[in-house]
Amino acid sequence: MESIEKLIANNRAWADALKARDPEFFAKRENDQAPHFLMIGCSDSRVPLEVMTGALPGDMFVHRNIGNQVYATDFNVLSVIQFAVQVLRVEHIIVCGHSNCGALRAAEQPAGMGILDHWIAGVRNTIRRHRGELDGCGSEDERLRRLSELNVLQQVGALSRTPTVLDAWSTGKRPLLHGWVYDIGTGHLDKVVEAIDGVERATALLPTG
Ligand code: CO
Repeated sequence: MESIEKLIANNRAWADALKARDPEFFAKRENDQAPHFLMIGCSDSRVPLEVMTGALPGDMFVHRNIGNQVYATDFNVLSVIQFAVQVLRVEHIIVCGHSNCGALRAAEQPAGMGILDHWIAGVRNTIRRHRGELDGCGSEDERLRRLSELNVLQQVGALSRTPTVLDAWSTGKRPLLHGWVYDIGTGHLDKVVEAIDGVERATALLPTG
């Protein structure tokens, strides 16, 4: 996939294929969206959230950033969450981490990457909090895998403390929060935590480490 023209050609072929199956496919979606899911994932090119879940246009509201972070000070992710919960009324919010994440690898290294150091400061805090457990991992691969799970749990916890989610839970069980890790080497998703529907379960998410 090296040429810009190829991207446009692929787009036309994709749209034609969907229209061949359902002539009204795009017209039906033109004026409204009603996705059931908000997915928050990493920007990594190997982790295509809609492709790997078979989601079609209209199925999934999406936010991506480096390391799938949910910061309480990030207007971008907070706005996405508010719109998804209050306007689109999504039923599920999924934080999706992945294996071999560059952000997590970088957080294991000393600082020295400029603005990226600020962005991954939260991951460094997670490493500090769970150093005992991480140092006990048998290999670098195992350690990075566990860190990807801990990072996802941390972000689901952060999600559960956003004003939008707390407001929604004060009147019901929606949205349900989920944490997944995607394995780049197999293409498979694994659940880390599922269907968090209130403050009590959310506060019990992370083991002390
Ligand atoms: Co990543």
